Amino acid sequence: MLKPFYVTTPIYYVNAMPHLGHAYTTVVADVVNRFHRMCGQETYFLTGTDEHGDKVVRAARDEGLSPLAYADQISELFKGLWPELDIEYDQFIRTTESDHIRVVKLVLQNIYDSGDIYFSEYEGAYCFGCERFYAERELVNGKCPDHETVPEVIKESNYFFRMSRYQDWLIDYILTHPDFIQPERYKNEVLAFLREPLEDLCISRPKSRLQWGITLPFDDNYVTYVWFDALLNYVSAQGYPDGERFKKFWPAVQHIVAKDILKPHGIYWPIMLKAAGIPLYHQLRVHGYWNVEDSKMSKSLGNMVDPMELKNVYGVDAFRYFLLREMAFGLDASFSEKALIQRINSDLANDLGNLFSRSLTMVHKYFNGVVPKGDGAAESGFDLDVKSGAIRAVEDYEKAMADLAFHKALIAVWEFINRINKYIDISAPWELAKKKTQYTQLELVLYNIVESLRIIAGLVYPLMPRTARVMQKHLGMTSPDTFQTLEDLKVWGKTRSGTKLPKTVTLFPRVEPDKPKSESRKAAPQKEAGASEKPEIPMKIFQQIDLRVATVLHAERVEKSENLLKLKVDAGEERTVVAGIAKSYQPEDLIGKQVVIVANLKPAKLMGVLSRGMVLAAGEKDTLRLVTLDGPSEPGTPLA
Ligand code: ME8
Repeated sequence: MLKPFYVTTPIYYVNAMPHLGHAYTTVVADVVNRFHRMCGQETYFLTGTDEHGDKVVRAARDEGLSPLAYADQISELFKGLWPELDIEYDQFIRTTESDHIRVVKLVLQNIYDSGDIYFSEYEGAYCFGCERFYAERELVNGKCPDHETVPEVIKESNYFFRMSRYQDWLIDYILTHPDFIQPERYKNEVLAFLREPLEDLCISRPKSRLQWGITLPFDDNYVTYVWFDALLNYVSAQGYPDGERFKKFWPAVQHIVAKDILKPHGIYWPIMLKAAGIPLYHQLRVHGYWNVEDSKMSKSLGNMVDPMELKNVYGVDAFRYFLLREMAFGLDASFSEKALIQRINSDLANDLGNLFSRSLTMVHKYFNGVVPKGDGAAESGFDLDVKSGAIRAVEDYEKAMADLAFHKALIAVWEFINRINKYIDISAPWELAKKKTQYTQLELVLYNIVESLRIIAGLVYPLMPRTARVMQKHLGMTSPDTFQTLEDLKVWGKTRSGTKLPKTVTLFPRVEPDKPKSESRKAAPQKEAGASEKPEIPMKIFQQIDLRVATVLHAERVEKSENLLKLKVDAGEERTVVAGIAKSYQPEDLIGKQVVIVANLKPAKLMGVLSRGMVLAAGEKDTLRLVTLDGPSEPGTPLA
């Protein structure tokens, strides 16, 4: 029996919309999870949202919502994004769930009882952005290194976690377990940090300052510091302390995070586990940061990259491929739409897409779409070369995947793809097809090509599951052999001769490099006499617009705005929509009205109010008419 495998992402704060960085870590966890499944292991994949703390309170206040109502909204955005990116998690945890809260209290009580939590007065520099105290030496020019703001000096009585007591133990553990924190550079960073004296961690916040948190089990006047709460999600999700899943998966856990949260994961978390008497996690794997065209991605620079938009424009697998091919795990990488288009055109459309369609076209042309025999002819050097190339590709790929070196795994697959492209050029099936005497050689060559494509489809599966599925379908593989294990890819000759193949498909359409694609670089309207001013769109794009019936439950004016009304609507579920109809409608006229909304419009803030969707109306600002239905309809009904 192979060991089970458990992978986690950070649980993301609900004070920001999901962006490229969140998508990367979560895609990586999905790839790793699928790879371990391919290796025959039983796997568990956890992701979720981190919902307590001051940041969330402040973000919720800006939206005029309670922290929980706000967390509900943003958490849904994360939850809704992952399936769009073909991310198949087993569990989505929220730190506001009662099971999680119970475990946090249990662990706090245990550590308190064992004497590692004490009460004391403390005066120090507190960064509200990070929600923690900073030691003088951690500040850069007196400022928080992350937020570049001067922390406030706060004097408070609080509970402290005796981390200092575990400093030598942790150094020793890291040195004797070289794989505990990987890659090497991050292990060294943690060790460098541990060369300085480790301060005890303030793990409480007085309720006079913050209520949105888990109350300490031993003092009602305090809530738990958000990190002490959040880290415990990795065990609470598995039913710690007695859950069967906890026993099965915890020893095999691999945490995937970016370098920004190395310290909580590399220092606080192992010490918390040790103090609570929980076995340590198996491994922490740390990746670098995505920048955007060499600048830091940040709200204030307005350069946040929206994964949903990229997926809608370029397709989910092109997006996944780019992330995995472009970033060497552990190092920083830079995102640009130009680089993404280049990758699509050269690696995906040209190398893989062309190989696939030219190969299947030949099987259809020379063998009527039926996979020929693969064992009849004497094998030339080139034919043997294909087999040895396949073996090498699988070996290199396996090693790279285990190291999370996805770019290297893809390089190994692409070397094999290029080898097959060369094999086709050298063996020239179109020449072989001209002479009857070379029929068996033609059979062998095309068999070898189809068999290589089977292996390539299996190799790309964890990284581009949708492409793998399409390839396998067109290679005539039906359930149950559509799921290929790594062992299946190590065996040459599993393609069955005589299989009838469906017609070929285009795996990746080419993208015109200079045509604007994303929101920020929209196409200029093509104007024809009498034609719409907007560009034509294919049905596929139109079908992505989620139009739904919504009933207005409540309406009010948005403060300081002449145009905007804030509507609470029932669109199958309750949501807030801001509409620019205040000059045409009084709020009270709208209650109970059924309108049509665009339900999947990217949420946007209008005059400080977060709008999730758009109400359809026709006309000019002060003579707008709402689009309504000519009879009652169930709220949430989609428009056909
Ligand atoms: O830190 N490049 O949540 P968070 C790559 N709630 N990855 C990035 C990135 C970037 N530019 N920006 C963000 C928290 N990430 C805590 C975690 S876990 C117990 C609690 C990804 O919403 C990356 O995975 O700030 C990073 O570690 C994480 O988002 C931080 O997410």
